[in-house]
Amino acid sequence: MEEDLQLLKQGAEAKVYKCTYLGLPCIVKERFQKNYRHPDLDACITKERIRNEARAIARCKSVGVKTPCLYLVDFDRRRIYMEHFTHSISVKDVLISLKSELKDEIDVPAVSKNVAVMIGAAVRRLHDSNMIHGDLTTSNMLLVPRYLKDKKEFRWHDYSELELSLIDFGLSYVESKAEDKGVDLYVLERALISTHNDYPDIFNEIMLGYTRKGEAEVAETLAKFKEVQARGRKRTMVG
Ligand SMILES: Nc1ncnc2c1ncn2[C@@H]1O[C@H](COP(=O)(O)OP(=O)(O)O)[C@@H](O)[C@H]1O
Ligand SMILES: [Mg+2]
Repeated sequence: MEEDLQLLKQGAEAKVYKCTYLGLPCIVKERFQKNYRHPDLDACITKERIRNEARAIARCKSVGVKTPCLYLVDFDRRRIYMEHFTHSISVKDVLISLKSELKDEIDVPAVSKNVAVMIGAAVRRLHDSNMIHGDLTTSNMLLVPRYLKDKKEFRWHDYSELELSLIDFGLSYVESKAEDKGVDLYVLERALISTHNDYPDIFNEIMLGYTRKGEAEVAETLAKFKEVQARGRKRTMVG
């Protein structure tokens, strides 16, 4: 059938290829074997990650969180096939390029705040459906143009035309506890501090998006988040 895979990204756990599947732009994510793990354990973990990813994509679809469409799961080849957002850009790359080549051209604080609010709203929707992402980083969020009138005219920073898609659900799971949601937010905060320390307000802006639908309903999650944060601080202080 498909084949003619072109390597796009090589990560620590998986290779990401592009190809076409039934004529559609497709991403193939192939999780490779980790030699330091016992082969049986490795196969087991890999299968679980693939299953988590497929399950989360299906669940996201049913609750209106944007993700790539799932096309096919091939456990034997450790692969998952999904929709390729051909003109997408990761939030990580957006935030980095906003600070470099584009900074004179556009209103950086306004664009980054808008993206942050979108992130917060998406994570809130996820958590309201009792899904924990497990690896919330800016590489695992893509900005996808809503429609492409003219490829040449497409400017990703015309953010009113962009949607946010979450990806990389291998560590995701279903859980209603506020503690797990708080930890999910804490993982995101840590990722932002280490990757985007030139955006000191971004996490607060994300939280504006997170609480926009109502703060009372997530009071427990926010309290747990603060608890986890305080525990983290203590750990760093002790060394
Ligand atoms: N559906 C997709 N459309 C466009 N780009 C994608 C898609 N899925 C993954 N990518 C790109 O590949 C990268 C790695 O994919 P990801 O699922 O996060 O795997 P990893 O486990 O290696 O982090 C992403 O950061 C993104 O740049
Ligand atoms: Mg990733």
